[in-house]
Amino acid sequence: KNIALLAGGYSGESVVSMQSAAQIEKSIPTEKYKVYKIIITRDSWAYTDSQGNKQEIDKNDFSISVNGSKVKFDCVFIAIHGAPGEDGLLQSYFELLQIPYTTCDSYTSALTFNKSYTNCVVASAGVNVAKSVQLFEDQSYTVDELLKTLKLPVFVKPNNGGSSIGTSKVKEVTELEAAIQKAFKEDKQVLVEEFIKGREFSCGVIKRGDEISVLPVTEIISSKEFFDFEAKYTPGMTREVTPADIDAETLKIVHQNLKRSYMRLNCRGVVRIDFFLEEGTNKFFFLEVNTVPGQTETSLIPQQVAAMGWDIKEFYSSVIEEACK
Ligand code: DAL
Ligand code: MG
Repeated sequence: KNIALLAGGYSGESVVSMQSAAQIEKSIPTEKYKVYKIIITRDSWAYTDSQGNKQEIDKNDFSISVNGSKVKFDCVFIAIHGAPGEDGLLQSYFELLQIPYTTCDSYTSALTFNKSYTNCVVASAGVNVAKSVQLFEDQSYTVDELLKTLKLPVFVKPNNGGSSIGTSKVKEVTELEAAIQKAFKEDKQVLVEEFIKGREFSCGVIKRGDEISVLPVTEIISSKEFFDFEAKYTPGMTREVTPADIDAETLKIVHQNLKRSYMRLNCRGVVRIDFFLEEGTNKFFFLEVNTVPGQTETSLIPQQVAAMGWDIKEFYSSVIEEACK
């Protein structure tokens, strides 16, 4: 089978995408699949062959020409975090062309890329979410009004984004306006969300056939104030414990909430859901879902796959076969 592995993208996460794609490329079994890595930027969608010749994609049918013959793809493995690989744009394009791809469909991708709307949907399934306010660039707000609804500390984030780019944790009223402006530099919508005091976790969820299964849960113990870009991608800066030390009763509740969120959002393939367990109550709070989760060598999904004794090559085969069904 010919697999197009897509990397790059338009956002600040393109650097992470290149690392994810490198580790996926290494781990897709070559006996079964021929992988063509295609780098997507705003100006070019291109494959570079082993001789260094760059081939632009024919966007009419998503094909390339290699040594004079046309190559079409059986499946597209999307490894682009952020736009246009995680927000439904490429998903819509492949749906139009009827080419199978590995992620959630265009509708779920677009919805889940909007953190605030996602919260509304998972809350409707009975999953706890932190109290939040969504701000729009062209609608006025005041810090006083915000603080009537929300208690400090809060997280201020670009509503459509990833890897904590543009995100701040705000403890003092005086820092709030600057944090909102910083997030507005990344996006036209900003989410201000109450901080849940407790432990932070992240967990892969995957659907094969009709069965939804949960990978081993990871606890994230960040040495920084929160799990920001630096803490996420600097080896050694964060302690990640897989499987997390959670008692059996709490783990059951965690699994229920993860599956309920996955089903309500109508996800497909492998996603990673981040959540908090509140101190004192052990109550589950949904934080966000990543529909193109990081797959770099140090990312959580490869760690969780290894922790359950699943060979990484078999894992990627399974992701591809599921997408091709
Ligand atoms: N958005 C990053 C890549 C992640 O969720 O892993
Ligand atoms: Mg994320």
